[in-house]
Amino acid sequence: MEDLILAIHFAGLAMGGAAGMGLPVVGFAAEKAPPEHRPSIGAAVKPLQMIGKAGMGLLILTGAIMATAGGVWGEASVWYWIKLVLVACLIGGIITADKAGAKARAGDAAAGAKVKMVSKINLTLLAAILLCAALAFN
Ligand code: HEM
Repeated sequence: MEDLILAIHFAGLAMGGAAGMGLPVVGFAAEKAPPEHRPSIGAAVKPLQMIGKAGMGLLILTGAIMATAGGVWGEASVWYWIKLVLVACLIGGIITADKAGAKARAGDAAAGAKVKMVSKINLTLLAAILLCAALAFN
């Protein structure tokens, strides 16, 4: 059972990573495309966002189950707590990118620049979370 939950944790990671890397690529493709093609390219945004959010949901749910079942809360290493703080920052980053993304798709150029910057920060946070997870649990 524990192994299954860890596997679902990893599936959540794959889904979050796919969305985190896929969304900037879609944004880049839409930016370079002729205006009449942008709506059809932009149609990929919603499904990717849903995959990313479902992935985050799975990570949080399975992470909380594993931490509770494994009794991690009381005796966790500092890397575990750093990981959780970074997860909270990533959730904030995803919400920020989501809101700015909606404005960018409506034609707000400043919001477009913000999405690019926040997407880079979010991917850096994801990499840092992976490092913390490896340091915390190995
Ligand atoms: C973006 C969010 C997250 C990512 C990318 C992530 C990533 C990972 C990775 C890669 C591992 C495997 C580490 C290893 O075995 O070396 C792991 C394990 C673990 N994670 Fe997460 N995690 C996330 C969120 C969470 C949250 C929110 C919690 C707790 C509430 C959590 C709790 C755990 C626990 C307890 C383990 C150890 C499982 C075990 O080996 O028994 N994770 N996580």
